[in-house]
Amino acid sequence: MSVEPCSDCGSPLDVSYFAHHETDHEADGNHIPSPIHDPGSWVSLGEGNTPCVSLTTLGGGLSLHQLYAKLEFLNPTGSFKDRGAATMLSVAREHGVAELVEDSSGNAGASVSAYAARAGIKSHIFVPADAPEAKLRQIRAYGTEVHPIEGSRGDVTAAAITYCQQHGLVYASHMMSPYFAEGTKAFAYEVVQQFEHVLPDHIVFPVGNGSLFIGAFNGFKELREAGEIEKIPRLHCVQSRNVMPLVAAFSGEDWSPESATKTVAGGISIAAPSRSWQILDILRQTSGSAVAVEDANILRAQKDLAEREGIFAEPTSAAAFAGLDALVDEGVIKVGDTVLVPVTGFGLKDEPPRQDA
Ligand SMILES: Cc1ncc(COP(=O)(O)O)c(C=O)c1O
Repeated sequence: MSVEPCSDCGSPLDVSYFAHHETDHEADGNHIPSPIHDPGSWVSLGEGNTPCVSLTTLGGGLSLHQLYAKLEFLNPTGSFKDRGAATMLSVAREHGVAELVEDSSGNAGASVSAYAARAGIKSHIFVPADAPEAKLRQIRAYGTEVHPIEGSRGDVTAAAITYCQQHGLVYASHMMSPYFAEGTKAFAYEVVQQFEHVLPDHIVFPVGNGSLFIGAFNGFKELREAGEIEKIPRLHCVQSRNVMPLVAAFSGEDWSPESATKTVAGGISIAAPSRSWQILDILRQTSGSAVAVEDANILRAQKDLAEREGIFAEPTSAAAFAGLDALVDEGVIKVGDTVLVPVTGFGLKDEPPRQDA
């Protein structure tokens, strides 16, 4: 259950399987290699199998062949993080963990709290003191001990690690745990099933630490190795212009974590992603691109998505749609292409600033 990084290079660890792995998780006909040995250890709230809907108005406006949204906010706590939390908490339960610590901008904290409650594990969630009030209320509702921390997102992580060391607790970090991204790979299995193997040309993700981005790639890779698909869609990564370490690394721009400023997309406000090399490698392997978007465009995309398609996404999730516009403008995504965007979190979790504020 350790989330210690690699002792040689300092990177977070990954899960890998032996050839004759026999503990596949079966979910609605999918056989997904899983790190859980005893099926009785599974902690589930019915996560996954989220619907894909066609966005004809927005897609038509961009002259795409098809634009689809995968409604990840229909997961049990309202965000895709439930996929990772289900696997991470199942491993924790299998290892007999009784109390754990996580740090989060909100959604991962809510997921870990819910699945910990379900598993009978006590949880401590360290959050930025200015995290959205709705997310804090949700985390508290699961009986979690919430530790608000003033300062940067990095200060929140440091406080969580110190607390673990002082109290001898397990650090169940969604950013460092090899099991969290292992849970999100089911996203790819579902896409292959839902698109009946005729995959979209592009998938556009809002990316902070990349747990969905990396998990999706790993799932597609497993399916390609199993001969189920020939080609992985081009995976693109969207960040806020205010916090854009991956975009800068991708495009060779000068940027340092000290230049990060506040953004409406709090879920992707990660100045130093723990798995950035992995994300950059996936961009390269899938001919993906990384784009930065202005906060004003994120809020406009959020409004368009709600008013023109009936989908109320939180700003972090709407960033992917602002990124889609930018990728079309840049010619990376072309007229006639098919695009899928995961809508990662529900709008009520992080309401937009009031117009009269
Ligand atoms: C709604 C939402 N979308 C996307 C992300 C980005 O996830 P990751 O940091 O794993 O890339 C987050 C992270 O908190 C989120 O809350």
